[in-house]
Order: sequence, then C-alpha cells, then structure tokens
Amino acid sequence: MPGSARWTAADLPDLSGRVFVVTGGNSGIGLETARELARKGGHVVIGCRDEARAVHAMGEIRASAPHAAVESLPLDLADLASVRTFAETLGKRHARLDVLCNNAGVMALPYRKTTDGFEMQIGTNHLGHFALTGLLLRLLLATPGARVVTIASGAHRYGRICFDDLQSERRYGKWRAYAQSKLANLLFGFELARRMDAARADLVSVAAHPGYAATNLPSAGPRMSGSWLGERAVALGNRLLAQSPAMGALPSLYAIAAPDVRSGEYYGPDGLREMRGHPRRVAAARRARDPETAERLWQISEALTGVRW
Ligand SMILES: NC(=O)c1ccc[n+]([C@@H]2O[C@H](COP(=O)([O-])OP(=O)(O)OC[C@H]3O[C@@H](n4cnc5c(N)ncnc54)[C@H](OP(=O)(O)O)[C@@H]3O)[C@@H](O)[C@H]2O)c1
Repeated sequence: MPGSARWTAADLPDLSGRVFVVTGGNSGIGLETARELARKGGHVVIGCRDEARAVHAMGEIRASAPHAAVESLPLDLADLASVRTFAETLGKRHARLDVLCNNAGVMALPYRKTTDGFEMQIGTNHLGHFALTGLLLRLLLATPGARVVTIASGAHRYGRICFDDLQSERRYGKWRAYAQSKLANLLFGFELARRMDAARADLVSVAAHPGYAATNLPSAGPRMSGSWLGERAVALGNRLLAQSPAMGALPSLYAIAAPDVRSGEYYGPDGLREMRGHPRRVAAARRARDPETAERLWQISEALTGVRW
C-alpha cells in the first residue's frame, strides 16, 4: 500500500512555485499543514474566518519559516457569499492553484444554522467546501497536476446521509450530524475523483483524516453549551490520548504532496484503529464509496448552494 513507514514532513518535496489553499489554516491540523507547506517553499493561502486569528497564525508560520510565503484571505464556510468572495479574490491574485485542502471543520456543536439556513455541521464541513471547490475548479484545472484534498474523519463510519432530513430539522443529534457531514466529505471527494476521471481531467481528488489529534475541534461544542465538565474532559483527552497536531497533519501533507498519491485514495495514520501514527493508505466504509448516494448528494448540494459544476 502507498504511504511509507515513518514518512514525515521532512520527506516533502520542494514546493517552490506552487500555490496551496488550506481552509481553516489558522488552527490545529490546518495550521501545521500550512506551516510545513510554507517551510518547503510553497505559497500558502490560509482561508480564515477571523482576521486576528489569521494574523496570529501567519506570525507563527513565519516564526518557524522566516522566508515563508503565506497570506490569508477571509473565508467563512458558513456563509456562501463569503465563499464566493474568497474564490473571486483568489482568482484575481493567483493564476494557478496546485492544491485546495478542504480542511476546516466544526464538530458536535449544539444546533445552529449557517447564514444560508443550513445545519451548521453539514453546512460548514460539506456544503461550504462543495461550493468552494466548484468555484475554484477552473483555476485548479488550469494548473497541471492539481489536487483537491478533503479532510474527513473516522467518524464517517457512524454516518448516514439522511436525505429526508439533511438539515436535521426534524431530529438533531450533534454527533449524528457530525458523522453525516464527514461521510458527505468522503462521498464528495470520491465522486469528484470519478467525475474528473470520466472527463479525463488533470485533477486528483483524495481524502485524508488525522486520527485523534489535540486541537481546538472538540472544545467548541462544550464551550457553546456552557459545559465546564465537557471542556475539562476534552482537555484531558487531548493531553492523555491524542497525538500532536503536527502528527495529525501528516496524512493531509502526504495526500497533498507525495508523488505516489492516486485519485480516489484515502490516507490516515498507520497506528492502532488509525488513531495515531504515520500516514498510509486506509480503507473507507463501503457506503462512502457508493456512487448512487454520492450522485444524489451531489445534485442536492448543487441545488442548495447554487454552485453548478
Ligand atoms: N482533531 C482531530 O482529532 C480530528 C479527527 C478527525 C477529523 N478531524 C478533522 O480535521 C479538520 C481540522 O480540524 P482540527 O482538528 O484541526 O480543529 P481546529 O483546531 O478546531 O481547526 C478547525 C479549523 O476550521 C475552522 N473553521 C471552523 N468553522 C469555519 C467556518 N465557518 N469558516 C471557516 N473556517 C472555519 C476553524 O476556524 P476558527 O479557528 O475560527 O474556529 C479552524 O481554523 C476538520 O475537518 C476535522 O473534522 C480532526
């Protein structure tokens, strides 16, 4: 299987002259991904919903890679107008886009809606990235060997696409909605691979997941619910069980830049239950590879976002 034992960020090739977008590149796995890409000479654009956090992240990246070419652009995936503005601005600033890394995400939040009225987790994790990728397709196709890397999660295994209640309006479960959104990420990534293959387009679509990494992801839910105990439990889990965000970023980095990556593949950590370790190719649940579900989700996503491919 592709993915080599003990592959690390030091094995990344030289990335000079290449342009990368990392959504949510200001925090956690996204920040580590952006940092390593910049260290290897890539031009990195971090899509971030908060200017102060973007400035702070760019400072961190420059501190570890003084010659880093890094910029930030405002991006709120929970607001389709912001997604459109991001894509337009990027297209004006850059004539190429080598890799779009659909990394940003939210997990297990209390019920919330996006600006466009979607349930927050499916809206941010899937629909926002679906729209963003569609709007950047022309730029990606204009770049030889471009890749779309979509970050999923082991949680996709517990997910079902609830076509009769995609927005969880009748019944909301915060974990159910997260698992649905992460299954949607994989259905999208694999369907994009099939579509590009059928069109003989020069675009690779792959997916990755970080295992269990100590990031801000699990703390937002308890914080929004005012659960002090929940926040403490998350902090303890991060300290005792999780691997570092830098290790969590390795499957993303492998999918972004390793030369042996093929469209339609999925990468994750090689350790026990894919919770930690170095990147290797991993299997997805069978329903993540189901073309009929993927096609149906694609049609609905086009209708909901107004982004037609
Ligand atoms: N950590 C894990 O163990 C784990 C496991 C499986 C999968 N994942 C996946 O890994 C990815 C990265 O998560 P992480 O663990 O690195 O968590 P994180 O530290 O919380 O980072 C998530 C990033 O997404 C951004 N984001 C959230 N909502 C957004 C929106 N509406 N518009 C734009 N950006 C938004 C966050 O921005 P703010 O800083 O402004 O909040 C942050 O930059 C996610 O897709 C997650 O599902 C993580």
